[in-house]
Amino acid sequence: MDNIMVIGAAGQIGSELVVELRKIYGSDHVFTTDIKQPPPDIMEGGPFQILDVMDDKQLIHFIIRNKINQIYHLAAVLSGNAEKLPTQAWKINMDSLMNILEVAKMVDEVKKIFWPSSIAVFGPTTPRINTPQLTIQEPITVYGISKLAGERWCDYYFNKYGVDVRSLRYPGLISYKTEPGGGTTDYAVEIFYEAIRQGKYECFLGEGTTLPMLFMPDAIKATIQLMEAERSRLTIRSSYNLGGMSITPDQVHQEIRKHIPGFTIRYNPDFRQAIADSWPHSVDDTIARVDWGVEQTYDLKKMTEIMLKEIQNKLNS
Ligand code: SER
Repeated sequence: MDNIMVIGAAGQIGSELVVELRKIYGSDHVFTTDIKQPPPDIMEGGPFQILDVMDDKQLIHFIIRNKINQIYHLAAVLSGNAEKLPTQAWKINMDSLMNILEVAKMVDEVKKIFWPSSIAVFGPTTPRINTPQLTIQEPITVYGISKLAGERWCDYYFNKYGVDVRSLRYPGLISYKTEPGGGTTDYAVEIFYEAIRQGKYECFLGEGTTLPMLFMPDAIKATIQLMEAERSRLTIRSSYNLGGMSITPDQVHQEIRKHIPGFTIRYNPDFRQAIADSWPHSVDDTIARVDWGVEQTYDLKKMTEIMLKEIQNKLNS
């Protein structure tokens, strides 16, 4: 059985991915790390250690000591926060990835790596509807530039050193367990919490802002599917386009109102509007479908029901 390391286990993706990985590989085989404490089920359900991926010496010791075979590197500064501290965000996003790629190159036991990219690798000159896998990429954010550079490094380490690194360009991710922090697509999580807590929400994107979004269970399924796919089936070593539902804040608002009729929304776009306006409306993920069979199962209606129910339970307990 492989030993798996998850970096960023306290985060929006990590806190849900770990639960699924433990079901597959067994709790003792999933080694979780972060620079902050994760939710209690992650802490108590298997090994957890505070570890900073920027510390390359500690990182390599951890990997050798625990005989790690697969690494999921999920730690990153998201798009909105990165604009506030550009040089710092660039350093964190790039150096952490380089540390992981170097370890994978040096340590033979490390067989596979997962590193997330994003729709942020695209920019205002990219075709916005059904954005193809191969297209113009002129991102205007630090986050997007770091993800695009990261994709090129992943492809480079695969071609030059045979490092089996796999990646997805996630759309906005919607989840109820752990809230994201500092992203442009975060409104699509906040809106559910505020609908329940306050019955009203002030949205930092305009009402008609279309972005592709994916419900977390679909994102986790796609991630594990990609990691379990036969190496020979994978034709993309930068990062696979991954589609989702194309939705606007107004559509989410209307869907929530079917459950909470009094829910009101006010629009007050901030600096993140320009970021959102530079990203695709929808993404063509045909290559992921053909290579390893990705499929999305949740639409806005189904997702909204689950989000409201789960957040209500969480806030009650
Ligand atoms: N969800 C991310 C963000 O908004 C994009 O990958 O920053």
